[in-house]
Amino acid sequence: MTPVSLKNGAFYNCDCITGAREYIPDNSVDLIITDPPYGINGDKLHKHYNRNEEFVVGGYVEIPQNEYADFSILWITEAERVLRPGGSLYIVSGYTNLIDILNALRNTRLNEINHIIWKYNFGVFTRQKYVSSHYHILFYEKPGGTRTFNLESRYGLDERNGENRSLNNYDREDVWVINREYKPGQVKNKNELPTKLLIKMMQYSSNEGDLICDFFLGGFSTAKVAIGLNRRVTGFEISCGMFETKTREIAAIIPGNLIPGLRNPTVSTLENPGKAWTDDELQRLKMGFMRLNVIGMTKKDIIAELGAEHGRGRFAILNALKKINCYNDVKSSPVTLDKFS
Ligand SMILES: C[S@@+](CC[C@H](N)C(=O)[O-])C[C@H]1O[C@@H](n2cnc3c(N)ncnc32)[C@H](O)[C@@H]1O
Repeated sequence: MTPVSLKNGAFYNCDCITGAREYIPDNSVDLIITDPPYGINGDKLHKHYNRNEEFVVGGYVEIPQNEYADFSILWITEAERVLRPGGSLYIVSGYTNLIDILNALRNTRLNEINHIIWKYNFGVFTRQKYVSSHYHILFYEKPGGTRTFNLESRYGLDERNGENRSLNNYDREDVWVINREYKPGQVKNKNELPTKLLIKMMQYSSNEGDLICDFFLGGFSTAKVAIGLNRRVTGFEISCGMFETKTREIAAIIPGNLIPGLRNPTVSTLENPGKAWTDDELQRLKMGFMRLNVIGMTKKDIIAELGAEHGRGRFAILNALKKINCYNDVKSSPVTLDKFS
């Protein structure tokens, strides 16, 4: 099998387990984003979503239900091996075979970071039970290195909406509401991931030039977005029809084409955002708090003043004050906790 090699990527038309063993060195990948097949009868979403099946590329290869657990262990073991220490892994999974994926992950040394719920539109219609409209996204890291997590890549820590809620916090909640894309008249895989979902994972968990791997390329949506964001990309797709159609499309993608459309966050100018507090700093915070409290400052002003002194945001100061049992001692308190949450 000859791989398809482009400037930003190499793609393999083969099984991902044997392919990874042969072509991907240990500790070489910065980020894996992948969406394994769901198991026979496991997913009927496409019947509702891609209404015209004429445009769905044939040859989507499923894994028989009775092989799913062993198959998951094998490919996830390879994923662990190829990730660099500190590298991240996102697996998109339906609920049907979630247990097999979780068991396979527990078989590795990978650490769970978040269990994200992705809520999409066009839930599968039912009459006698609830409508299924979510997938699971399992976000793990390989221990032993520094994890890339670009905290302010999408929203600055100080950016707020009209109700004074933190946009950064909202974007980083573990329930993501992102619609599937309806692509009438385009040749596609049965379960293509939306561009917005992929951009979000890549912005937080990778940088330009990083290597991203997708074990199950399908319609190559991970590869398209990775190239569009100036990342390098590699991966596998076992279906020949899909591979041929999609590698032709990939060759026409201009690297970095998605970057001009990204939101420009107003990055916070704080010196220490997200840093752990040392005992010394907490002690200084306590002294500062007592000094300002005694002169009768309001909670709001105390928090702003301490924030400027310590180079940290409002939430960080609030949480630290609670930790050192100062928060409830403030005498004049027209501002309640809820105002800040
Ligand atoms: C859920 S789809 C991936 C969809 C993809 N994320 C996208 O957005 O288009 C899973 C893909 O894995 C492929 N596949 C199944 N078994 C495979 C294997 N052992 N190695 C590589 N690809 C495989 C299927 O043919 C299918 O295209």
